[in-house]
Amino acid sequence: MASASTSYARILFLLSLQLITVAVIAHHDCGPFEANDRDRIQFAQNLEFLEAEYFTYDALGKGLDAFAPELAKGGPPPIGARKANLDPVTRQIIEEFGYQEIGHLRAIVTTVGGIPRPLLDISSENFAKLFDKAVGYCLDPPFDPYADTANFLTASYAIPYMGLVGYVGTIPYLANYTSRRLVASLLGVESGQDAVLRALLYGKACEKVVTYDITVADFTNVISGLRNQLAKCDIKDEGLIVPLKLGAENRTTSNILSADTNSLSYARTPPEILRVVYGDGDEHKPGGFFPEGANGKIARSYLSEHHKD
Ligand SMILES: *[C@@H]1O[C@H](CO)[C@@H](O)[C@H](O)[C@H]1NC(C)=O
Ligand SMILES: *[C@@H]1O[C@H](CO)[C@@H](O)[C@H](O)[C@H]1NC(C)=O
Repeated sequence: MASASTSYARILFLLSLQLITVAVIAHHDCGPFEANDRDRIQFAQNLEFLEAEYFTYDALGKGLDAFAPELAKGGPPPIGARKANLDPVTRQIIEEFGYQEIGHLRAIVTTVGGIPRPLLDISSENFAKLFDKAVGYCLDPPFDPYADTANFLTASYAIPYMGLVGYVGTIPYLANYTSRRLVASLLGVESGQDAVLRALLYGKACEKVVTYDITVADFTNVISGLRNQLAKCDIKDEGLIVPLKLGAENRTTSNILSADTNSLSYARTPPEILRVVYGDGDEHKPGGFFPEGANGKIARSYLSEHHKD
């Protein structure tokens, strides 16, 4: 059990982390990104694989190989995937999300041809590492996304949002109608998933995540803060309760959707996304959810000879 003073120190630490991340400096490569439509869409497929495996395993205890193995194109099965302990309503929502991701993979394969499924690490150990990094110390016991609905939703906060901001960043650069139509439709469902997860989490914003002295809202703030820090391109990610100046029209501290001053969605480039999902702020250094790196021309182009196949 944490004493009152250590809890207080933790809260101060979490607050200061939020302030630091509000001041993230855009010094890295954040500018427009050159690539053709096929490579951009195949890049996004990496995140669709992550979501497909994560959601189908969480809800059903099985993944892509049980439903549409051909879409994996021979890529290895994920590490550490398992069924989460969910309440019936959440489980049903996530089962549907899982099937949606399978449809997204099929649509991508049909339109531009697919990449092989990359090796994915969705083990509780990997989430535990991410959460330790977000709070800035080792959570005890280690964070387990599969333990219950609240943990699962908090962990899920880390997933569809990256797909959403990636699609928002992709559409303006797509050259032709077929690719724009596909990606606009992928974005629609992706942002819907993110909104549902965030609204479910907002309902629990002030609850403490069991066993930790940290509320759901604080977890979302530190995860968003970490992602801003890793991506190195200013604030494009906001938690569920924010300072007024980040709320819609500067009039609310609720932040059920993460968006900019005019409530427009943030956009991210492929290198920004890789810095986040690799967990280390470096698009050249695989890790996190993608221990051997993401697949497709864009992601592979950043890997050193050592990491290439
Ligand atoms: C448009 O893009 C799609 C998918 O990227 C591609 O298959 C198709 O050949 C492109 N069409 C034209 C006219 O360039
Ligand atoms: C909200 O505050 C920011 C500065 O923090 C300012 O740039 C923006 O114009 C304000 N928005 C409105 C609608 O007043």
